[in-house]
Amino acid sequence: MKTLKNQKQPVLRIVHNHENSIVLDLLSNKANLGVVGLGYVGLPIALEFASLVNVKGFDISKEKVEAMKKGVDPSGELDRNEFENKRISFSAELDQLEDVRFYVVAVPTPVSADYKPDLSPLKSATKMVARYLKEGDYVVFESTVYPGCTEEVCVPILEEISGLKVNEDFKVGYSPERINPGDKKNTISTITKVVSGSDQEAAEAIADVYDLIIEAGVHVAPNMKTAEACKVVENTQRDVNIALMNELSNMFEKMGINTNDVIAATATKWNALPFFPGLVGGHCIGVDPYYLAHKANALGVGADLILTSRHINEELPSRIAGRIAEALKKHDKKIYNCRILVRGITFKENVSDIRNSKVGLLYSALKDMGAEVVIEDPLADPKEVEDEYGIRLSNAVNMLKYDAVVVAVAHTQFKFHDAEYYQRISKDTPVIFDLRGIVEGGDQLEDYYTL
Ligand SMILES: NC(=O)c1ccc[n+]([C@@H]2O[C@H](COP(=O)([O-])OP(=O)(O)OC[C@H]3O[C@@H](n4cnc5c(N)ncnc54)[C@H](O)[C@@H]3O)[C@@H](O)[C@H]2O)c1
Repeated sequence: MKTLKNQKQPVLRIVHNHENSIVLDLLSNKANLGVVGLGYVGLPIALEFASLVNVKGFDISKEKVEAMKKGVDPSGELDRNEFENKRISFSAELDQLEDVRFYVVAVPTPVSADYKPDLSPLKSATKMVARYLKEGDYVVFESTVYPGCTEEVCVPILEEISGLKVNEDFKVGYSPERINPGDKKNTISTITKVVSGSDQEAAEAIADVYDLIIEAGVHVAPNMKTAEACKVVENTQRDVNIALMNELSNMFEKMGINTNDVIAATATKWNALPFFPGLVGGHCIGVDPYYLAHKANALGVGADLILTSRHINEELPSRIAGRIAEALKKHDKKIYNCRILVRGITFKENVSDIRNSKVGLLYSALKDMGAEVVIEDPLADPKEVEDEYGIRLSNAVNMLKYDAVVVAVAHTQFKFHDAEYYQRISKDTPVIFDLRGIVEGGDQLEDYYTL
């Protein structure tokens, strides 16, 4: 079933037979598929394809490549058995990109210190691919970018270095990734994949290739910038909605209203949206809105709501630190004389990823107020935490007693501890800030706070 161009309704493109030559060439081992950047996004895609076609995995990190050669996922997401019986090779050598007909690029797209898109990894990876680009090749970008980036930034690099012309000599596509680390239910093959191409032929061929591995179906967007917009909108929508809940929780605290009770009440309406206040970290939701705002601003269009939302979410850690100081004051304690335990530093629950974790900001805010801060995380790598934040994780938190405890991340391990545990590890009256609302019986405690 072919997708109509500019269709209004999202129609899943169901491919009944793979007649496209690139698909046939991949399936018959006449062509290789290459994945550039083997992180949270690239590695699962590479392994999924490697069940069916020959895959060449390339990453600039020698350390990661060595781990993957041994069947170990450096991100800790995939089990060893996912590497078994796969037609894949891993290398950090550039010539790994030779003899690839279908490239998938999944390198990081962070922001700079002043919150502008940092496209240097993407440009560098594109240059590497361009050196090996041949007639008949396909290059699909999966890194999250602002609308227009593939066409305006990546295609010119590919053309200039290869001397080839897009659509005439090679095809380009953009396919945003929706993988959700830590989520064992929604995986690559069970999430509908949005794809797009530099022309109709490219879109169809790229859809056919992804259709090989995506059970949930492929949705073809009318052009690359629509597919790029789709991804940044998904994350911006979450960011803005969480910012609203953070703003509301700030108001409700002053009004003496429990935000979670309000959410529970509003949830009884048929069209209520299930958003909760909380820290917004990681490399997606807290980053992608800056990409969209950057592009809008470059075109002279305001992105006020988006940037205000970012601001609200970014300032939450210092607001929480202020609330902790206030709560301690009620017990005649000065925060600079207090010891505070922070539970969790990863950017979300049940993952080891610490990138852009807002717990880092909370830690700094508490330290700036003079508190002694002890921090624990059963999943984060202590060396990574020290390199990234200069923080030493404690693995003996039970040896000490605390004036206040912040439950920052909802790791499953933390859910086993109920109010009684917090009583035990507290110096005197427990002062508990349960940012994710996971402490069983917490609301029975005198000084139990949520967002
Ligand atoms: N992690 C997610 O949940 C997620 C979800 C959707 C989209 N994305 C987007 O996907 C992209 C990749 O994210 P990620 O989380 O996989 O990042 P990651 O940091 O886990 O992995 C990126 C990999 O690319 C490698 N790399 C960097 N430059 C390279 C180059 N020039 N050539 C080859 N390899 C290179 C790095 O060594 C790293 O292993 C980003 O744009 C991100 O926003 C991520």
